Amino acid sequence: MAETNIAEFIQGLPKAELHVHIEGTLEPELLFELAERNRISLKYPTVEALRKAYSFSKLQDFLDIYYEGANVLQTEQDFYDLTWAYLNRAKAQGVVHTEVFFDPQTHTARGIEFATVITGISRALQDGQEKLGVTSRLIMCFLRHLVELSAFKTLEDALPFKHLIVGVGLDSSERGNPPSKFESVFAQARRLGFKVVAHAGEEGTEDYIREAIDLLKVDRIDHGNASVQCDYLLEELKDRRIPLTVCPLSNKALKVVGNMEEHPLKRMLHKGLIVTVNSDDPAYFGGYVNENYQAVADALLLNKKELAQLAMNSIVGSFLSDTDKQKYVLAIDEYCKTF
Ligand code: ADE
Ligand code: ZN
Repeated sequence: MAETNIAEFIQGLPKAELHVHIEGTLEPELLFELAERNRISLKYPTVEALRKAYSFSKLQDFLDIYYEGANVLQTEQDFYDLTWAYLNRAKAQGVVHTEVFFDPQTHTARGIEFATVITGISRALQDGQEKLGVTSRLIMCFLRHLVELSAFKTLEDALPFKHLIVGVGLDSSERGNPPSKFESVFAQARRLGFKVVAHAGEEGTEDYIREAIDLLKVDRIDHGNASVQCDYLLEELKDRRIPLTVCPLSNKALKVVGNMEEHPLKRMLHKGLIVTVNSDDPAYFGGYVNENYQAVADALLLNKKELAQLAMNSIVGSFLSDTDKQKYVLAIDEYCKTF
């Protein structure tokens, strides 16, 4: 298929996004606008200078600049504006459903109330459903570089807003902070009825994925790149139908893969895993969900059928109801027939 045809196919393909950090959708232009609104001075004189600083050799390089960027988020309206901007971009790319991460500890550590953060994000998600027709779920991540007690405190802060949060996740600096560090708080979250996901095997080894499955009992693995190092683990992910939320442009930007041609996504897909394509932190890694589909289509020579399977997987791997999943699976089928 010609390149423009593939781009058009990706654009119109109904899809879900299952791995996007709302703080990672903060575009430099909005960052500057919020800094001015909140009278915060920035290290960088211009949007262009800030964008130039987005050059990373590992996960921690990115996290340092990402946490610094989040400082401009102060009021409920700031969190609303951030989320609303993301939803409009997602809608424009054919995203029908999105499952959004947020990092409450990044904000509560700066004295911003948990309520301020979640009310702003949720109000935008509600408007996204009503005005754009994009459905959503919210997932609260614990920062793994902090102690488990801080995660417990965050879980407690979340309880008055439990109806707004579908699940908990685990993100931030992976190496040296294994899933086992958070076994108790994840058990508590599961008892409370939350779904559970965790970043694992992004920079960490396959052992981190194993711990996430066995100790945290995750419903999904975020990233999971290291799973290809172990055939037995790949079989288990397949047999237990544990989806992977893979983020190609993120992996390239953070040097998890040397180049996109080496990306394990196609191997995972052909093994029969429920592998999905996502943007992670699109404002920092050079693209939203469609740019991620396009990057793997180009580098791994994915055809229309493989791209449609990735979109199907995003629906199947989501936390939507079975009825909604069926509706979107049919929509993808129809789209493929008529394209
Ligand atoms: N927080 C935001 N993006 C992340 C990533 N790619 N890995 C771990 N933590 C993150
Ligand atoms: Zn992530």
